[in-house]
Amino acid sequence: MNSARRRFLKYLAASPLLKSFDLLAQEQRLPDPMVWAPRSLDKLIESPREALSVFDFEPVMQKNVPPAHFGYMASGIDDEVTLRANREGFQKFQLLPRRLVDVSQLDLSMELFGRTYGSPVVLAPTGSNKAFHEDGDLAVSRAARRSNNLQILSTVATASIEQAIEARGRPVWFQLYPTNKWAVAEALAKRAEKAGAETIVVTVDVLARQNWEAYVRLWRTDKRNCAECHGLGLASFVKRKPNFDGLDLSGIDSTGATNLTWTFIKRLRDTVKTKLVLKGLMTAADATLAVDNGLDAIIVSNHGGRDDDFGRSTIDALPEIIEAVDGRIPVLVDSGFRRGTDIVKALALGARAVCIGRPYLWGLGAFGQAGVERVLDLLQQETRAAMQQVGARALKQLGPALVKRAS
Ligand SMILES: Cc1cc2nc3c(=O)[nH]c(=O)nc-3n(C[C@H](O)[C@H](O)[C@H](O)COP(=O)(O)O)c2cc1C
Repeated sequence: MNSARRRFLKYLAASPLLKSFDLLAQEQRLPDPMVWAPRSLDKLIESPREALSVFDFEPVMQKNVPPAHFGYMASGIDDEVTLRANREGFQKFQLLPRRLVDVSQLDLSMELFGRTYGSPVVLAPTGSNKAFHEDGDLAVSRAARRSNNLQILSTVATASIEQAIEARGRPVWFQLYPTNKWAVAEALAKRAEKAGAETIVVTVDVLARQNWEAYVRLWRTDKRNCAECHGLGLASFVKRKPNFDGLDLSGIDSTGATNLTWTFIKRLRDTVKTKLVLKGLMTAADATLAVDNGLDAIIVSNHGGRDDDFGRSTIDALPEIIEAVDGRIPVLVDSGFRRGTDIVKALALGARAVCIGRPYLWGLGAFGQAGVERVLDLLQQETRAAMQQVGARALKQLGPALVKRAS
């Protein structure tokens, strides 16, 4: 080895950069964001207040919950290309700040279907929240109540729609997994309507068997016997989900439905008077069909990279969908939103609101309701900061002039 090369290797070995890589290697996967400040499992935050960003909660949750439960939350599909694309997609867009705009008073309030919320940050539907904290979905509802956020309750939540509305103190939206049996979909939708849910969100992107490889790998590291706590299989799963109470579930083979078409949507339209929203659209063509079929809003979503590994982020899909919808119905978006700037980019591109999934689950698994509250606070603070920096006093001032696709 020549001496210059030896000197270089010696320099590298002593470099703080390499030490950072050492630290990263000790973790199960690279942290997001790629920060060079020390982050390792023995230096976790001890209270929600210590969190500098939503990312601080995930390793605390990882410590608190069984590996199988953590894997269920964290997993994407196959190589997790879509999961990563959702984060990387934000780098393709840049905000264009305007100066000398008075941003001393900011208004983050968001209006949707005649109701006003404290911010554009919406709590996306996530199933099985008691896997992360004993207070489950109700801790989420109470956190949403505190800062007046819209919450969408999952069909497979561990609280009923009635309980969630009571804990939230205002109507929450109900997300519908229709199953393969119309009578079950109908009963779920009617129950939600009766309970006071003013909007039903039909999730249309769960079709194939989800190859949650990371989930299975983490599950295999779990020493517990899952069946001892909660049984296994669909029947046992559904039994623990109160929205299904009292329903005849004979003949259902999954909570999703592979036979879903626009005919189902029309049938549902004739069954309930609530607003109807589709969640899981990724193309302009489907967004146009949604408008033509009388949907009240859509959520651009790839299920947080949990349903396909096609590699397209939602922020990438958003502009063409906004263009196709052309202001006729509100467009919401989710998947990969972790920072205020992510949120402001989507709003400037034309989204009405942004839903988050995993970040609030990290907060829930780490500290229960207080964790969810802090996650919401952080995202809202960052959104305020990004709005001030870009020169927008209110959400309505965020528009296409403030954002461009990086060349
Ligand atoms: C653990 C977990 C459970 C989920 N359960 C549901 C569900 O029951 N219904 C649904 O429509 N989407 C579900 N989703 C998808 C979320 O609603 C949302 O689309 C996604 O989490 C957004 O991406 P993000 O996690 O990167 O923020 C779930 C997501 C996670 C992480």
